[in-house]
Amino acid sequence: MHAKVNHAKVEFDAIPGNLGFARVAAASFAAGLGFTVEDLEDIKLAVSEAVSNCIIHAYPGPGEARPTVLMVMEARESEFVVSIEDKGIGIADVAMARKPGVTTDSERLGMGFTLMEALADQVDVKSELGVGTRVEMIFSPERGG
Ligand SMILES: Nc1ncnc2c1ncn2[C@@H]1O[C@H](COP(=O)(O)OP(=O)(O)OP(=O)(O)O)[C@@H](O)[C@H]1O
Ligand SMILES: [Mg+2]
Repeated sequence: MHAKVNHAKVEFDAIPGNLGFARVAAASFAAGLGFTVEDLEDIKLAVSEAVSNCIIHAYPGPGEARPTVLMVMEARESEFVVSIEDKGIGIADVAMARKPGVTTDSERLGMGFTLMEALADQVDVKSELGVGTRVEMIFSPERGG
């Protein structure tokens, strides 16, 4: 087990204009944990995919509350853990949604989860219909490849 050495939480509106903010927030938090510049680009891309999903899929209807995304970042001794969470519609079948090419939007490729899995060392998705979705990704600087 790795001891938690730092953490930060940011909550922001689920709008496309906040995508850049989320990417840079994650990369700047992870900077200094031993990641290469390429690793930090991977983190930005993976965070982008997870946050995009919250913005695009989680809040389709005219909801009452202000739709938001919560991003929690944790620096552990040898890893960076980021979770991206919404209080949206949820995913009916997570195992299916994670498969390459599976999408509920015919305009999209259905490659977001596949990309996250390729970029992060570990991806965990928890979702409940009508409650929301939480994607946790773990990145380790000493990973191979
Ligand atoms: N936060 C979320 N809330 C609700 N549904 C989601 C969420 N994230 C993903 N999904 C569902 O899982 C499916 C697969 O997501 P994935 O990111 O792999 O592909 P996509 O977003 O459809 O396409 P792409 O990411 O390639 O643009 C989505 O089409 C959507 O139905
Ligand atoms: Mg996606």
